[in-house]
Amino acid sequence: MRLGVNIDHVATVRQARCAAEPDPVTAAALAELGGAAGITVHLRGDRRHIQNRDLHLLRQVVRTRLNVEMAATDEMVSIAADVQPDQVTLVPEKENEVTTTGGLDVVRHHELIRDVAERLKEHGILVSLFIDPLEDQVGAAQLTGAKAVEINTGTYSEMAVHSCQQELDRIRRAATMAHSLGLEVLGGHGLTYVNVKPVARISEIVELNIGHSIVSRAVLIGLERAVRDMVVLLG
Ligand code: PXP
Repeated sequence: MRLGVNIDHVATVRQARCAAEPDPVTAAALAELGGAAGITVHLRGDRRHIQNRDLHLLRQVVRTRLNVEMAATDEMVSIAADVQPDQVTLVPEKENEVTTTGGLDVVRHHELIRDVAERLKEHGILVSLFIDPLEDQVGAAQLTGAKAVEINTGTYSEMAVHSCQQELDRIRRAATMAHSLGLEVLGGHGLTYVNVKPVARISEIVELNIGHSIVSRAVLIGLERAVRDMVVLLG
């Protein structure tokens, strides 16, 4: 199972002060040292965390795979063509959402998504679609020519451990169907150190993209050391 590390929230801390640190580019290098198989960032329309500058630098620094999440818009296609990430994951984007709130509706927006996927492929970029674990969405995703789907684990992640079995089954069924249609199957959203294992055991899923929980843990694990370093400097 590959781990794709989403470093958006390193940039969130930076943007809280509009400062230079912490730099997500440095975070990407460290995540790779830690064994990440890929680095994921979401370039949002409102640029609330990742900035265009980050994408350009990440393209130079990332040695594994750079996966950029973006909305299916002309602006984003042209940025992707310029930056040339290894993969683009198309996601829905709503203006005031705190985070991505659901998968793409590929059934409803089939033409638009197929068109954007084709344009990205013409630029040599692999395309993945972030979808809810629904069989009609998997079928529609395959018809767009995308190479992969990322199954939304957000609903599963919000559920209590004792009541998430049905949702886990839904994810498993969608993964099995996507795999049988020849799609590469990824997963992600809301996964944590507590809930990740059952999803990681689904054999059709080859990669999980995890961000918030890893960055949260990094802040806590690194805080004691950071305070000690400052105490030493103060003398
Ligand atoms: N996959 C997609 C498509 C996402 O939009 C996000 C959040 O940016 C993630 C995975 C990672 O989610 P989390 O930060 O909750 O681990």
